[in-house]
Amino acid sequence: MIATRLHPDKQSAAQAVAREIAELIELRSKSGKSTVLGLATGSTPLPLYAELVRLRREQGLSFRSVVTFNLDEYEGLGPTHPQSYRRFMEENLFRHLDIPATSIHIPDGLSRDAAKDCADYEAAIRAAGGIDLQILGIGRTGHVGFNEPPSPADCRTRRVHLDEVTRRDNSVFFGEPGQVPHGALTMGVATILEARRIALLAFGEAKADIVARAIKETPSAACPATWLQAHPACTFHLDAAAAKKL
Ligand code: F6R
Repeated sequence: MIATRLHPDKQSAAQAVAREIAELIELRSKSGKSTVLGLATGSTPLPLYAELVRLRREQGLSFRSVVTFNLDEYEGLGPTHPQSYRRFMEENLFRHLDIPATSIHIPDGLSRDAAKDCADYEAAIRAAGGIDLQILGIGRTGHVGFNEPPSPADCRTRRVHLDEVTRRDNSVFFGEPGQVPHGALTMGVATILEARRIALLAFGEAKADIVARAIKETPSAACPATWLQAHPACTFHLDAAAAKKL
């Protein structure tokens, strides 16, 4: 079952999830363990990343024991491309923290052998001990990561085609829709469901319909976020506008 937590605004939601991350890092590092975080890009996690950067800067929270795996990357975009997710993560999070460069993982948008690289990505997650906490946003198509409909519950990290709705939504970052890549590499639904804990963030009225569908619809490939209902520890962190249709 999906738990929902209503926050007065996205800053409060960001603070709550950042606190959860900080507590997890502190608890695990006390016993010498690393903390494996699954990370998302897009507009939604920006206040969360700003809060983590603040905790690093103002409270000295160390991320040295953190290992990260990002959900996805656009196909064809290299690490320095201004719209690549690698660059997004560098600018909004990584360059402000002390995570060792070798602990950061993002699918390679320039991969020449996607099948092998995606299998290696899965293996790297397993080798790191699995994801302790996965951060998610949600797309208006019902995608999590870039698992567009139809995405079955057992799909793994792979190459996918982006839905036209998603390409249009994401064109705000690219200037014009034609510039948005048609493909991406994404962690699969099964990969996401293996995370020990999941925190999905959704803010604003534009997400109200899809949040309600994800929580209320019978799980199916037609709305991949519905697969989260099967997860034992998944919380949706919402503002009032995103929770409006619940
Ligand atoms: C991003 C990702 C996507 C986004 C979703 C919402 O890494 O995997 O699922 O979380 O498209 O995007 P925003 O937050 O821009 O509305």
